[in-house]
Amino acid sequence: VLPTKDEPRWIQDQTRFQNKLAELGYDAEILFSQADPSMEKSNVEALITKGVEVIILCPHDSAAAAASAEAARDAGVTVISYDRLITDTEAVDYYVTFDSVAVGEAQAQYLVDKAEGNWNPLYLYAGAATDNNAFLFFEGAWNVLQPKIVDGTFYIVNSSQAVELQETAELTRDEMGDIISQITTNWDFDDAKSLAEANLTAASADDKGDVFILAPNDGTARAIADAFGADTDVDSFVVTGQDAEIASVQYIIDGKQSMTVLKDVRNLVDDAISVAVSVVEGETVQTTGEYDNGVTMVPAIQSEVITVDRSNVIEAIIESGYWDASEFTGLDQLEEVEEEEEEAGIDLEICGTDEEVTITYVGDPVDTSKAAELATIERFNEYCPNITVNRIDGDPSTTDLLASYFTVFEAESSDLDVIRVDVVNPGVLAEHLLDLNPYTPDAQKASYIPSLLVNNTVDGRLVALPIPVSYTHLTLP
Ligand code: BGC
Repeated sequence: VLPTKDEPRWIQDQTRFQNKLAELGYDAEILFSQADPSMEKSNVEALITKGVEVIILCPHDSAAAAASAEAARDAGVTVISYDRLITDTEAVDYYVTFDSVAVGEAQAQYLVDKAEGNWNPLYLYAGAATDNNAFLFFEGAWNVLQPKIVDGTFYIVNSSQAVELQETAELTRDEMGDIISQITTNWDFDDAKSLAEANLTAASADDKGDVFILAPNDGTARAIADAFGADTDVDSFVVTGQDAEIASVQYIIDGKQSMTVLKDVRNLVDDAISVAVSVVEGETVQTTGEYDNGVTMVPAIQSEVITVDRSNVIEAIIESGYWDASEFTGLDQLEEVEEEEEEAGIDLEICGTDEEVTITYVGDPVDTSKAAELATIERFNEYCPNITVNRIDGDPSTTDLLASYFTVFEAESSDLDVIRVDVVNPGVLAEHLLDLNPYTPDAQKASYIPSLLVNNTVDGRLVALPIPVSYTHLTLP
């Protein structure tokens, strides 16, 4: 039972379910609830009457769906909550989902990576408050954006509640609810567009220019992008999304939407079907975690997500077989741009450069972190085989450490590729350098090296390799 036919996301799930079920030879019926909890309940009841053993339910309204889940449980039917968690009831047996907090984090990280300097206008938008996922997405986004609001990289334009709470790193559900009530799109394209237009009308010209927009999903991103694109005071905007809907992938190719988060529905469908089959066959269901639905901990299986923008759309969407190239126009031009970049020897996505580069790093010979530095460098060298980083001991007797670094570099090689040397403490933000604070154990490890190198690459040349003083929190992908 899926929430609505009015969003391409759920049509996608329907098609991918049908394909997989046909392949496996199962009989199944897919019903839509058209954003109406009472229709959802009648759908569930109709299936119970037919004698089904398992219902896979993606609720329109997480709490209202408790009644449907309870009706199923009373009839002895196993309930699998699909993508969105059914809350406020014990009657949920399993939850198959994407890592929704990671979706919000990926969206926010994209905005952070694209922002330069300080005091960038940030517009926040969220999903429907009736959808538990809207909170998870917002929580993830806040994890990454809040420190960048506090440090002055961004300021929030369109939510007084968010401004009031901007010093608070971890929001309660009620606090998130207060913010979401001001910035909700209700997952509705028209609502999203009108809210964006209202925000732009209320904003001053100073709050426009080059702006950053957290849009919760692809449908709302396109609507919001259209509104921002039509405002002549907006010079440029970076806007997020999720779902890799065909229309948004086209927007990305055309440069009208900046990114999407690919949640590979094929994986979710596979997980849901394999849980259902295990239940029917009486086998033990393998789960990998659990989610609190307010009443009980629901055993869950969680899938990972991937950030997609123009730089990897061909690989992530076309070459992965997610959508067929024939769905899109303009892929040829995109390939040409990529080829030109490759010919220029720049592959910023991987290691900042695909040229052979040697970087010599000079450290303090008595520095207690020397061993950790060496370990970091060793793993870096494995990760980027075209870049070799050496660490050598500097002269500890000098009082001018930086001057001594240069002396050692010059003695080391007459053919240097390193143009500058930066001594970095986590959190220090020098020109070209990346704020290392966001790269905590749980956040964005995988983007650390690429982001670091992109930030330190000028005209395709890696100009500095900052090695932070504290290493324990760095894990290379
Ligand atoms: C889903 C998103 C979808 C949104 C609107 C969320 O619960 O996880 O993929 O875009 O609902 O339907």
